[in-house]
Amino acid sequence: MDEQLNRLRAEIAARRTFAIISHPDAGKTTLTEKLLLYGGALHVAGSVRSRGDGRQTTSDWMDIERQRGISVSSSVLQFEYAGRQMNLLDTPGHNDFSEDTYRTLAAADTAIMLIDCVKGVEPQTIKLFQVCRMRGIPIVTFVNKLDRDGKDPFELLDEIERVLGIPCSPANWPIGFGRSFVGLVDRWTRSLQVFQGSSGSRRGEMRPASWDDAELLQILGQSQMDRLRDDVALLDTAGTPFDREGFLAGQITPVFFGSAMTNCGLEPLLDHFVDLAPAPRTRMTSAGPLAADEPAFSGFVFKIQANMDPQHRDRIAFVRICSGRFVRGMDVQHVRTGKTLTLSRSVQFMAQTRTVVDEAFSGDIVGLWDPGVLRIGDSLCEAQPLEFEGIPRFSPEHFVRVRLHDPLKRKQLKKGLEQLSEEGAVQVFYDRQRMERDPILGAVGALQFEVVEHRLRGEYGVRIGFDRLPYRFARWIEGDGIDFDQLELPGRQSCVVDVEGRPLVLFETEYLLRRTEEKYQSVTFISAVQPGRSHRAAA
Ligand code: G4P
Repeated sequence: MDEQLNRLRAEIAARRTFAIISHPDAGKTTLTEKLLLYGGALHVAGSVRSRGDGRQTTSDWMDIERQRGISVSSSVLQFEYAGRQMNLLDTPGHNDFSEDTYRTLAAADTAIMLIDCVKGVEPQTIKLFQVCRMRGIPIVTFVNKLDRDGKDPFELLDEIERVLGIPCSPANWPIGFGRSFVGLVDRWTRSLQVFQGSSGSRRGEMRPASWDDAELLQILGQSQMDRLRDDVALLDTAGTPFDREGFLAGQITPVFFGSAMTNCGLEPLLDHFVDLAPAPRTRMTSAGPLAADEPAFSGFVFKIQANMDPQHRDRIAFVRICSGRFVRGMDVQHVRTGKTLTLSRSVQFMAQTRTVVDEAFSGDIVGLWDPGVLRIGDSLCEAQPLEFEGIPRFSPEHFVRVRLHDPLKRKQLKKGLEQLSEEGAVQVFYDRQRMERDPILGAVGALQFEVVEHRLRGEYGVRIGFDRLPYRFARWIEGDGIDFDQLELPGRQSCVVDVEGRPLVLFETEYLLRRTEEKYQSVTFISAVQPGRSHRAAA
């Protein structure tokens, strides 16, 4: 028994489950490839590409992905590094990101925040950062593209602190910039490392150097070397000292510098990351705190993907294991319905292949074949039934009114939208008073609408069009005192209800949102809600 428990503890202690958050083009795909390369999972870096250059993505399941050469669905990529089992949650990398990107963070224990040194902190990084902050996820920052002439590193640190409000503590510091970016000063080990002949598809080599290294002096010149010394000394005296507790609470971020493309600074990042990033930790549940090494299996569904394989019309629910050991064929309780489920069809994903999983541990992600009973946020437990902190539904920023081409297909439309809403592919809203009208769809990323249109046609035989609506903000309403009739302008359906009957108000501008918030002080305007927690219908 002890032996089993020790094994469980060792397996869990070796797990690092993380996601990369970034704005498109900051280099997330490149970094992902390189991490896999360093972990020995890919022989040729390049097979994770998701650009329009014909190379396929690893998570290229759906037609729409193939047609557009982008990655819509997210999966998990596994590799080993320094004896750790790395689970990299792959988040969609397109401009039009979706709620899936947010939800994936619920399954992550750590995030790597990627910043392009030329562009600095960009809008999508801000949004994803805020989700991490809300969930208290520790964040490691990687400033990328140092091989290009970007912003001054001090300026970048200042920008991150100012825009995101998180103190930065540089773990290393670049030696030279742009074309003369030749190495790093590791502030924690107090050592200098110089890159040696790195290139795209091979691991970059490094050699240790000293402050009076002749080659460095030759490349940088005396004045740059003096400046580097001064900069590092300044960081030691005036910089934010690293504080592990603060990092684990998501209140301070260690910063690494490098270039994913030229393989510079990746090993230093990974070497520190495996120690910095926490193994699966205790999670809060409805039954109190639950330790990751609690022997009984438990987990929650954070993503559902239907029809991943067109040849076998199937639906896969991705489960993040939060405690214990998963064994294929085990019986668990589906907490929402109280039913027993036998988990006999389980898969893991690596690049384009799925493999059957017989065993997995807390921190791992398993894909479960789902006959249609599972929903996002559902808990599965081997022992005592408990629910995990739910996955919120985030405030959409794009809205359309559905136009049904064939009115006889209304039933199929309803069924299809119910399914897609349950999967979390899109949010469905109805007019407050006329529920029979064509619904309004809301999404965090506009690409979600295309996915819905495509899937309704392919899976339910329903053709629809969309009329764009001008709204940009949605707030769920809690508390009394709002007169929806008064708030809603004639001819505008800005007061709606969601699938669970909860009232929302849609706003075109932030100004209008603020003004309404000020006017109705007794009412709470909520930007993210837990599905299934409240069932108040709008008047
Ligand atoms: P994303 O997934 O975050 O959207 O970014 P992706 O990795 O696709 O990278 C976006 C662009 O930035 C790519 O160039 C990529 O090569 C480049 N890039 C990534 N990391 C670095 C880096 O460390 N240094 C430099 N200089 N560039 C980097 P592209 O022109 O869009 O594509 P490609 O022609 O390189 O394939």
